[in-house]
Amino acid sequence: RSARTAPAALTPLADHVDPAWLPSEAFRALGSRRTVVCGTGALVDTVHGEVAWACGAFGGSVVRAEEPADDRPCDLLLHLGERLDAPEPLGDEGFTLVRRRGRTTVTAAGQRGLLYGLFHVVRLGEAAFGASRAREAHRPALASRMLDHWDNVAVHPVMGQVERGYAGGSLFWRDGRARGDLERVRTYGRLLAACGINAVAVNNVNVHATEAHLLTDRIGEVAEIAGALRPYGIRTQLSVTFAAPLVLGGLATADPLDEAVRAWWAEATGRVYAAIPDFGGYVVKADSEGQPGPFAYGRSHADGANLLADALAPYGGTVHWRAFVYDHRQDWRDRSTDRARAAYDHFVPLDGRFRDNAVLQVKHGPMDFQVREPVSPVIGAMPRTRLAVEVQATQEYTGQQRHVCALAPMWSQVLRWRPEGATGTSVGELARGGLVAVSNAGDDPYWTGHPLAQANLYTVGRLGWQPDADPFGLLDEWIDLTFTPARTEAPERLVAGLRAVLYRSWRTYEKYTAPLGVGFMVQPGHHYGPSVDGYEYSPWGTYHFADRDGVGVDRTRATGTGYAGQYAKPWAEVYESPDTCPDELLLFFHHVPYGHVLHSGRTVIQHIYDTHFEGVAEVEEARQVWASLVDLVEPARHTRVAERYEEQLRGAREWRDHINSYFFRKSGVPDAHGRRIH
Ligand code: GCU
Repeated sequence: RSARTAPAALTPLADHVDPAWLPSEAFRALGSRRTVVCGTGALVDTVHGEVAWACGAFGGSVVRAEEPADDRPCDLLLHLGERLDAPEPLGDEGFTLVRRRGRTTVTAAGQRGLLYGLFHVVRLGEAAFGASRAREAHRPALASRMLDHWDNVAVHPVMGQVERGYAGGSLFWRDGRARGDLERVRTYGRLLAACGINAVAVNNVNVHATEAHLLTDRIGEVAEIAGALRPYGIRTQLSVTFAAPLVLGGLATADPLDEAVRAWWAEATGRVYAAIPDFGGYVVKADSEGQPGPFAYGRSHADGANLLADALAPYGGTVHWRAFVYDHRQDWRDRSTDRARAAYDHFVPLDGRFRDNAVLQVKHGPMDFQVREPVSPVIGAMPRTRLAVEVQATQEYTGQQRHVCALAPMWSQVLRWRPEGATGTSVGELARGGLVAVSNAGDDPYWTGHPLAQANLYTVGRLGWQPDADPFGLLDEWIDLTFTPARTEAPERLVAGLRAVLYRSWRTYEKYTAPLGVGFMVQPGHHYGPSVDGYEYSPWGTYHFADRDGVGVDRTRATGTGYAGQYAKPWAEVYESPDTCPDELLLFFHHVPYGHVLHSGRTVIQHIYDTHFEGVAEVEEARQVWASLVDLVEPARHTRVAERYEEQLRGAREWRDHINSYFFRKSGVPDAHGRRIH
């Protein structure tokens, strides 16, 4: 039985939606070969459909067989088999790949594994069909690799359709209801599967009135989305309000220990599973920035999380309970309260009290997705709790997808960091509950607004699969798939150019924005552009304490908030002293005079001036490099990026001038190089 029909998702969209990292060209090697797909099931159908489509485009052939036959001539065998010839069990998502005697064989025990094996072959391109390869075993290091969409169903008066969204509207919702454009959702699922994502939460963690109803009377709309994501092995999750029994159920309380409340959740969850049998579970933001939670009833966050975990347990579901809990009505005059301490103070005492199917979702840093933060001390301090690490692909504080900021190098630093010191376990290994990223995708034709921001979506999935992967290698993978350099006239120039604009973009962004880990010098509300004192006298707990003598937050045990003491040795000691604290985090941990000399040999004030001039120069350079690729990049994509570089350069100059002028005026210290400061 052979087929040449296109997977429904592909053809109709080709004209107006960017193929991102799955352009047809990426399928050339596969699509020009003879493939046998062996096995049955819905995801095997997806695999077969993919191969058939590729063969339609590039002249190969595909046959579907019940059993693999050695004598059948083929170049690629994609085989769903019972027995895996691998040293360790590979689970539902793993696969093996071997090439011998001119045939490449991918074997998986589960359908998802076969799908990931297929996309692995796509990534390898011609290399999948070259020299013999010894058997390789692949499996994801983290079982859960989830995207959180901060999408609202109804347009929120302040936040709009997508909270912190920089890529147009929502892929799922528009003007109060499901969009119904399920082909687009399916295409999204396809892209996500190709980078290893296996779960998507379809609505904002801030659950407003309309969105609350997705849990009950509007679950059908969620089921439709789930149906479109399912063929690509992606489970659907839902953000729910802790107050649901009150606002939806008409109960008088949402107390997690109240029997009626427990019964309500059990019943509501049963109905969710009736609509979506493979539903992934709930995501909850409780007692955080105004969202309701268990504190109102004098209960702990373990009580709150376990309530939902118990409701989900009979169906194998998981609750993702966020640790982003802090006082957002702080008095800025009070220097003893430290927002950075909050997650640890609230959650570490609860270690061991969460159910097995409760995952504590911890932001990677103690504050809020700044361009530079230390790793959250919660990670590593809760050995008896399943932790997920949450990162932000949507570039709220990193240029809002108008600036290039490839975040894989930053995420990789987090995931490779070792809370107990060099010989201890890494964050990637400790994240037993998985990796979660706030999605940066929307209904923009390029998915992410800035075409180069696609790299963040791609690499975050890949890092979930392999947290210790080389982030630059992953960027190369993305470059290779998206731009298929080998098919252009100057592959080396194209790759070198793309590396030049991506590899150091995070450091560049850091240079022209917030120095030495200080953070939050952004415009309040929308968080785009500089405002050094924007949050200084606000209730949000995000201060830098700059005065005429110095800048930074004293978070030491000796004289400050004690935050540094939340780390295990040796980090507690490293961070405690400005002599050992790494330069890039100095102002996060210490209040120092402007004349303080960094390890780099520069003073703090001179570092501020220098990096801001350097940052702008690096943006100018990157913009030139991009311009030089005009003959090698598809015109529409090239133009879109070029336009955004104009805004990035304008923004970088504005940042430079604000920050430098502010600190010059505060400190009175002139620039050692006599450059113009306003
Ligand atoms: C940030 C962001 C909010 C978001 C919050 C969260 O504070 O600005 O929009 O709701 O993070 O992670 O819940």
